Amino acid sequence: MRAVTIVPREADSLRVQEVPDPAPAAGEALVRVLESGLCGTDAEITAGLYGAAPPDSPYLILGHENLGIVESAPTGSAVTPGDLVVSTVRRPCPEGCLPCRSGQNDMCLTGHYRERGIQELPGFMSERYAEDPAYMVRVPRHLRPVAVLVEPMTVAQKGLEQAFRIQQRMPWEPRHALVLGAGPVGLLAAAAMRLRGLEVTVASREAPGSPRDELLGQAGIRYLSTETIPAEELRQRLDRLDIVFEATGAAALIGPAVSAVGTDGVCILASVTEAGRKTTLDLGAWNRQMVLGNCVVFGTVNANRRHFEAAVRDLETAEERQPGWMGRLITRRLPFTDAARALVREPSDIKTVLVFAGGC
Ligand code: BGC
Repeated sequence: MRAVTIVPREADSLRVQEVPDPAPAAGEALVRVLESGLCGTDAEITAGLYGAAPPDSPYLILGHENLGIVESAPTGSAVTPGDLVVSTVRRPCPEGCLPCRSGQNDMCLTGHYRERGIQELPGFMSERYAEDPAYMVRVPRHLRPVAVLVEPMTVAQKGLEQAFRIQQRMPWEPRHALVLGAGPVGLLAAAAMRLRGLEVTVASREAPGSPRDELLGQAGIRYLSTETIPAEELRQRLDRLDIVFEATGAAALIGPAVSAVGTDGVCILASVTEAGRKTTLDLGAWNRQMVLGNCVVFGTVNANRRHFEAAVRDLETAEERQPGWMGRLITRRLPFTDAARALVREPSDIKTVLVFAGGC
């Protein structure tokens, strides 16, 4: 079969090449890949900055955002041929730390977890893959056009689920939320909070009136351009913020994000930033604000099965309430043989998706 591969730590090594067909082990299902989305992590891996190949392989099959159709499955397993499925990304550490053995490998303690398409496991950018059905989440057929967004949506879902759990520390009725960053995760987090009835503002660098501004407006979400309002001033310009969701990937925005959260509020840090970019933050003033305001700031990465299920539910609700809106987040679909071209960002890109097979 053909797959999109890279040689980890080697820039510009991306290739579409023949690789051996997957051979399902006992208990595993075989899935035909329909689509795989591209994200910042894929760009980093392709640039040679991140990722690791399986120990016995010179290359890594790329791709962790996925949608496929089950071709064969062991009898009595949780999936059957013809099911539309999305597989989770991370697999437990060999030590079996407490979170990993409790089904929460997204919280792995040892750091020895593996991730499909990222760390030591083949990704989903291949015509087929084999997997244990325990890591697959079934998706209703009518979500076929948007289901490739499930994985990026899980990043938002985990952040929000954790925030709501943390906030059980008191009676809490969140009303105002700010999302920093209008990439796919930022937009999906904004949409998920709007579905929960919050007044949501997204702040990002695109100019006012940009396609993202218009897209957000259609979903009842306010857009502020950091071209016109500096990120440092957002706190003063907005109502008291109950939730701040940081999704920019820009180190310079972390200070404004953690400082924007209001009394009793929570700030979710969900983007991975480059180290080495130094900015100043008055830690004394910031600490004072956190302490006197009973604020929480926490980080979140990856997602477990529960968040994949929540992502499917939110995509269903979004499609019911505003059919077609989610689909507009997918701005380009290209054949997987054009993977190198797909990775070159165009100004209008939100989510670019590689197509491996049509139909269904
Ligand atoms: C993926 C996560 C993964 C993280 C770090 C993200 O792009 O969505 O599943 O844990 O990268 O490798």
